[in-house]
Amino acid sequence: MATQMKAPPSTKKEIVDVPFAYRDLVSKYSPGGRYIDAQSDDDSPWVPFGPTAAIKHLSFDVRRNLFSNILWVKGPGTIGTHFHRGTITMVVLEGSVRYLEYDWVATPGGLILEVPGESHTLVTEHPDGVKLFGWMEGPIEFYDENAVLVETADVWWMMNHYEEHCREHGIAINPKLYL
Ligand SMILES: [Fe+2]
Repeated sequence: MATQMKAPPSTKKEIVDVPFAYRDLVSKYSPGGRYIDAQSDDDSPWVPFGPTAAIKHLSFDVRRNLFSNILWVKGPGTIGTHFHRGTITMVVLEGSVRYLEYDWVATPGGLILEVPGESHTLVTEHPDGVKLFGWMEGPIEFYDENAVLVETADVWWMMNHYEEHCREHGIAINPKLYL
């Protein structure tokens, strides 16, 4: 009969030295796990994203065009129509948000999944706007009201958005944000 694990097998607060044959390679080549504080501005500042929104960049992975950040729309407003070429995973932290194209409203704790080939228009009608944590894959194409491509946002765009702001404000680039 197969044993059933009922809970992680831990009875005391102690580090267990787990054997792994390739530990030397891991320490040589892995970017390493890390903690990035998102509550304060110590690890990453809020960078203006238009006049009514801001982005707190949390990580950049150029190998897979991945980036993580918190998008903050500061009051009722819209983020223009955009088209995804990658997959987006987002969690609502505060406020609420919906898309003109869908019939749901996302609220704190809720998960939003977006897939390549979708375009949509993000709207928040909450008085405090919305804060969204995202783990995202680029590129994201932004279109104007005539469906003309205005801007393509990928990991390089996000990195430049962060670094330009840091340069302008004398903020040190945080190496922890780069995987
Ligand atoms: Fe989207």
